[in-house]
Amino acid sequence: MKVDENAPIGIFDSGVGGLTVVKEIMENLPMERICYFGDTARVPYGSKSKETIIKYSRQIINFLKSQNVKAIVIACNTASAFALEQVEKEIDIPIIGVINPGAEVAVEKTKNKKIGIIGTIGTIGSNIHKEKINEIDKEIKVIGRACPLFVPLVEENWLEDKITYQVAERYLHKLKQEKIDTLVLGCTHYPLIRKVIEEVMGEDVQLVDPAYETAIKLKKVLEKKSMLATKEEKVKFPYKFYVSDLAEKFTDFANTILPYDIYKTRKINIEDYEEMVWNTKVED
Ligand code: DGL
Repeated sequence: MKVDENAPIGIFDSGVGGLTVVKEIMENLPMERICYFGDTARVPYGSKSKETIIKYSRQIINFLKSQNVKAIVIACNTASAFALEQVEKEIDIPIIGVINPGAEVAVEKTKNKKIGIIGTIGTIGSNIHKEKINEIDKEIKVIGRACPLFVPLVEENWLEDKITYQVAERYLHKLKQEKIDTLVLGCTHYPLIRKVIEEVMGEDVQLVDPAYETAIKLKKVLEKKSMLATKEEKVKFPYKFYVSDLAEKFTDFANTILPYDIYKTRKINIEDYEEMVWNTKVED
């Protein structure tokens, strides 16, 4: 099958969190087109079952494939933890998640072999970071902590609020006591409150943001498969954004964090993509 190297990259998350990955891809792979889907009608994913997240991921992948994407990035730790292993067996284009890139860098960074992971209840409960880290070095102690209130605080845009500091103090207290030297931001929403987390953990703890590492991994995968975008000419709309609800709210939020302004976000009915729908195109 001939791959169109100038086709977009499909990226998805449960909502706005995946925009932290989009930002890194925009900055590190500036030639690439992007088709993003944020499942704003069904956020949060972090408190849902593996079965549900696999079902949602399949629907979204079907939607992205209907947009002719050449590769997919699951820009959500919960979906990466629960669905990547399953869905990668089902599709014929490259697909990567955010767990491995973060775990690999944490192993490189830790000196005292104590790594903390923060994420949703689903991600922490899956134990996937511990598995990946101990596959590389089984002497590393991995301590997970679910921080479910961080997601609504980010969605509310309370990025430096007093309440966000208080919640962070309470969640991160035990990780501080454990004397970890490296902390993985295991949820794509968390880089948006990085400043708070950094201050609460103190300067002896280095934070790992898998968003950057994921962009670099994507670049390597595309390079290896000769799928990097080559088009010099400017496409009119290189970045397209879709959500399952509240399109305007999403646009406003995205414009506070992305390096380029989004003019429009389209709302689609993601439930329509239950089955393979190769012929369905969303209107431009
Ligand atoms: N952004 C998602 C993640 O990385 C978490 C948000 C949610 O619970 O939906 O896990």
